[in-house]
Amino acid sequence: MQQIIQTDFSGVDGLQIETIAESHLTPLSVKVNTKYIPVLPYDWLTEYGLLKTIRPVKLPMVIGYGFGGIVESTGLLRDHQLVGKAVIGVQPTGSAQTVINAQLPPLLFEVPPKVALKDAVTLIGGADAALHAVNSIKANSTDVVLVTGASGGVGTYLIQLLKLAGATVIALANPDNRVFVQSLGADVVLNYQADLAAQLTRTVVPNKVIDAVGRPELLQTITTVYEQLTIFSLSLTNFNPPKPNQSFKFSHGSIGISGYHQLLALLATGQIQAQIQTVYPFEDVKKAHLAAKNGHARGRMLLAF
Ligand SMILES: NC(=O)c1ccc[n+]([C@@H]2O[C@H](COP(=O)([O-])OP(=O)(O)OC[C@H]3O[C@@H](n4cnc5c(N)ncnc54)[C@H](OP(=O)(O)O)[C@@H]3O)[C@@H](O)[C@H]2O)c1
Repeated sequence: MQQIIQTDFSGVDGLQIETIAESHLTPLSVKVNTKYIPVLPYDWLTEYGLLKTIRPVKLPMVIGYGFGGIVESTGLLRDHQLVGKAVIGVQPTGSAQTVINAQLPPLLFEVPPKVALKDAVTLIGGADAALHAVNSIKANSTDVVLVTGASGGVGTYLIQLLKLAGATVIALANPDNRVFVQSLGADVVLNYQADLAAQLTRTVVPNKVIDAVGRPELLQTITTVYEQLTIFSLSLTNFNPPKPNQSFKFSHGSIGISGYHQLLALLATGQIQAQIQTVYPFEDVKKAHLAAKNGHARGRMLLAF
């Protein structure tokens, strides 16, 4: 089988595709023929050595976190009915492999027949983080929530989940993505590339912020304009809000098995929709990671196997 490994911290130049023997089936194995993995900031930030403090890794390592594929075989202790079924999951040891030997039962989810596998894959490292943040702020119909990074793999789900919770959404995006984030339900779209403070003073006042960008200067601008704000950031571990009635928390954690089932059901019933920007063959991993790092996001990029 083939896998993508990171060999150093030089960025995409340190990525290599290698061929290795398949690992053996254990009683806890579910062997999956990989079809897609999401391209996450987690991957390219690690490649450039930018996550060393929160994610220390030993190299070489297999890249990738989430996956979607078709179950090829199962170990004695796993549900044999899964064979032939479409699944998504998390592979903490790296998911960029043509065949994944998934050994952790709580991290594998069967995809309902109504949901396309590539759509389901975008839940991992996207909708899951968004749902966790939306639950953490206890979003409801009295809230006006400002979302940064609204056009990204997480932000596109943040908008949709906040709208389902009844909140009013102010989305920050680049001007090319105005119509795109509006189509996802954003009530107000502001251009983060223009004078943001001036735009903020002219629009409805938010009481909560979900930050999916991680630039302190952006939060600095936002907190200067308002007096009272609850901020949850998916990207910054620390930020000191300047005013007494402003709070900050780093949003991270799991939505649990029930959270993934909830998201799959929302996709199945069309209440949320996956936004897929581009699908690259896995051999083009360097191209995909450069595009994710340098380009403007419109949902999630995937690698196909
Ligand atoms: N804590 C957790 O559990 C968790 C889980 C998943 C992800 N995350 C984090 O969440 C963040 C978003 O992830 P993602 O997958 O959605 O990333 P993504 O798909 O790359 O999207 C990033 C978004 O940030 C925007 N952006 C980039 N530079 C900006 C700037 N200077 N000012 C304003 N907006 C800017 C992008 O807009 P443009 O397209 O206009 O550039 C895009 O909408 C990342 O920091 C990621 O590490 C955290």
